[in-house]
Amino acid sequence: MILRDKVAIVTGAGQGIGRGIALKLAEKGAHVVASDIHAQTARRTAREVEILGCRALAVKADVSCRSDVEQMVATTLTEFSKIDILVNNAGIARSATLLKLTDEAWDEVLDVNLKGIFYTTQAVATHMIDAQYGRIVNISSIYGRTGTIGDSNYVASKAGIVGFTKSAARELARHNINVNAVLPGIVDTPLLQGIPDKYLQPMIKEIPLRRVGTPEDIGNVAAFLVSDEASYITGATIEVTGGWRM
Ligand SMILES: NC(=O)c1ccc[n+]([C@@H]2O[C@H](COP(=O)([O-])OP(=O)(O)OC[C@H]3O[C@@H](n4cnc5c(N)ncnc54)[C@H](O)[C@@H]3O)[C@@H](O)[C@H]2O)c1
Repeated sequence: MILRDKVAIVTGAGQGIGRGIALKLAEKGAHVVASDIHAQTARRTAREVEILGCRALAVKADVSCRSDVEQMVATTLTEFSKIDILVNNAGIARSATLLKLTDEAWDEVLDVNLKGIFYTTQAVATHMIDAQYGRIVNISSIYGRTGTIGDSNYVASKAGIVGFTKSAARELARHNINVNAVLPGIVDTPLLQGIPDKYLQPMIKEIPLRRVGTPEDIGNVAAFLVSDEASYITGATIEVTGGWRM
């Protein structure tokens, strides 16, 4: 129970990797604010956290909306009086090749994936600075390092997260706030289930560990990064890919 009584906000916690992270943090003893743009799935994850014996709160919030984010932070403080951990997981893709990419698809992805992290980090950092303690984990993607075809908006946002993580880590280090990024490879979530098998199977063959990742694989690394055992790690980018695209 290395996270006993810590209070964690996880964005995009309604399903997939965010849900996996929320449950892993709860397994280690943290109380969890399960935040998602979809209230119903956030509530479902919050119930699962409670079944694990921790306190939970479901909050409907769109991370790309500053007032939603401020409300999420205010509600968390009212309920728990502190915020120790923030996991910025919410993310979307709107795939199109470069010449077909629209302004709308560009803005939507950058607003959720990158501006959202700016909003949440800014809102939470104020309180973490007062407490002189904080652990922030940002979910990027291995594509942020390698690029890929048909997702330049997504890749730009994920590479942006890496830069943002390092800058925030530098600025916040003197307040005992660690900021790190996790770069997943291919993870089995509803996002992945949209990829046709004829594309997916060749990708799996390229993974040295010969399997896709699970939300739990990402949850394990996030839980480590927010624990005291990782107190000397900040500004790091951890690839969790089974060796894919190393
Ligand atoms: N699945 C993968 O293979 C993979 C690989 C690398 C990185 N990632 C990243 O991991 C994160 C989670 O991905 P996933 O596969 O679990 O996706 P997912 O689509 O299964 O889940 C994303 C969650 O975020 C929520 N969400 C979407 N827009 C939001 C918004 N504006 N505000 C708040 N919540 C919002 C959704 O409702 C959903 O619950 C994303 O940042 C994604 O880019 C995923």
